[in-house]
Amino acid sequence: MTKTINILFLASEAEPFVKVGGLADVAGSLPLALRALPGEPCLDVRLVLPLHQAIQANSANLMPGVEFSVQRNGADIPAQVFETRLEDMPVYFVAGGSISEEATVYSSNPTFDREKYTFFSLSVLEMTRALGWRPDILHANDWHTALALYALRTRRSDPFLASIRSVLTLHNLPYMGGDGSQQLAAYGLNPVEDEALPRWAHTQPLPLGLWAADALVAVSPTYAQEILTPEFGCGLHNFLRGRGDAFSGILNGLDTVSWDPAADPALAANFDALSLASRLANRTALQIRLGMQDDPGVPLLAMVGRIDPQKGVDIVLDAARQFVDLPWQMVILGKGDASLEDGARRLEADFPGRVRAVIDYDAPLGRLIYGGADVFLMPSRYEPCGLAQMIAMRYGCVPVVRATGGLKDTVAEGQTGFRFEEATAEALVEALRRALTIYPEQAKWQKLQRNGMAQDFSWTKSAQRYRMIYQSLTG
Ligand code: GLC
Repeated sequence: MTKTINILFLASEAEPFVKVGGLADVAGSLPLALRALPGEPCLDVRLVLPLHQAIQANSANLMPGVEFSVQRNGADIPAQVFETRLEDMPVYFVAGGSISEEATVYSSNPTFDREKYTFFSLSVLEMTRALGWRPDILHANDWHTALALYALRTRRSDPFLASIRSVLTLHNLPYMGGDGSQQLAAYGLNPVEDEALPRWAHTQPLPLGLWAADALVAVSPTYAQEILTPEFGCGLHNFLRGRGDAFSGILNGLDTVSWDPAADPALAANFDALSLASRLANRTALQIRLGMQDDPGVPLLAMVGRIDPQKGVDIVLDAARQFVDLPWQMVILGKGDASLEDGARRLEADFPGRVRAVIDYDAPLGRLIYGGADVFLMPSRYEPCGLAQMIAMRYGCVPVVRATGGLKDTVAEGQTGFRFEEATAEALVEALRRALTIYPEQAKWQKLQRNGMAQDFSWTKSAQRYRMIYQSLTG
C-alpha cells in the first residue's frame, strides 16, 4: 500500500485567492508542489484560509461544507467551512467570528487581528474534527496561525488531536502578533510557563507557536542563521538556539509556470535566454506606458514591492540622488508606508522623465517591469527569503541586493547579480557602479542575465526537504 501523509497547511493569505505579500506566493504554490512530488510517501496536502471578504467576492465556486463551533468565554461561536479546489487540492475557508467583519486581510487595529486570527487558528482544530479528516501534520505559517499549534500542544489529552504533529514556517520574525493575554483567556488557553522563552513572549502568538511546534523552518538557510543572533533575533535568538535540530532553513521556491518570461501574457514580448533581444520591446512598452524617455543605451533600474523600511526604499531614494553623474532611469512600483511613498513621489518630481514612481499595487505592470527593466534593486534591511530577486533573475533583470537572508542565498556576486553589505545608500551606490560599468559591455551583461535565467528556482528541491521533515515527524 502506498503510504500517505495528511497535511493541513494554514495561512492567512494564498494565491490565487487573496494576496498581500510573499506569504501568499508560498501558500499558493508550496502545497501544490508537495502534492506533485514523485515517489513516496504521497502527501495529501490541503490548504485552509480565513474566508476574507475579498475571497467571498472573488470566488464563485465555494461549496458550503461542515459547521461547528468554537468556545469563547464559555459561549459557542458558530463557524462554517466553505470548500473549493485549486487544481486537485481541496481548499477550505473558515467563516465565522470576526473573520469577515473587516474588508482587509490585515487590520490596522492589532487587537482586532489578534482576535480574528485566534478564532481562525482554533477553528482549524475543530474543523478537522468536523470533517472527519485527521491531518498527520498541521503546518502553520507566521504569527496568524501559530496559535493553532499552541492549542494543539496543550490539548494532547484529546484523542482526536493527540497524534497530530506540527511544523511552523517563519516568513517574518519581527511580526509576532503582540500581547495576546486577552485572547488566550477568552479561548481558554493558558500562557506558556517555560523560562526558555523570555517573559514578554509568554502571551504572544508567534513565540507560542515557536515553542509548541515540533519543527521550525525559516524561509532561507541564511535567515535561519541570522535569527540566531541578537541583531536579527528580535529577542528570541537564545530560545531559537535552544530548539537545536528542530529548527532549519529551507529556501522558498517559485511557481515557475506562472513566472515564465517565455509564456507570461502580461509581457509585450515573450523571450527566453536565447532571445534576450526581445526584452527591448518590453522596455519600450514600459517606457511608453509610464511616459518616460526612450533612451536605448541608458540602463533602467527598477524596484517592485511593498514600500516599506524593511525593503530599504529609503536607501534607494537616497542613493538615486547621490549617483546622478551616471546615466540611468528608474521606476518604482508599490504601495505602503506613507512617508516613503511621498519620498518616491518627490524623487519623481525632481527628476521628471527619468524617474517614475507608481504608487499602486499592479501585478501586470510588475511583470512588465521584470521583463523590461535592466537592473532590479533590493537593498532590504532584512529579507527572510525574498521572491522578487528570483523572479527578476528569471526575467533577465539583473539584481543588485543587500547580502542578507534569502538574497545572499540566491544572488551570486558577479555571476548572477551584485551584492553589498552595509544598509546604506553609499554601499548601494558602490554596487550599482560595479553593475553599470559592465552594462555597456553587451556580451558580459548578457552572460549575467543568462546565468540568472539558468538558475533552478522551482520548488522541487525545497519541497523534498519539507517532505523529509514531515517523514521524520510521523516516523
Ligand atoms: C515575507 C518575507 C519575504 C519572504 C516571504 C515568503 O514576506 O518578508 O522575505 O520571501 O515572506 O516567505
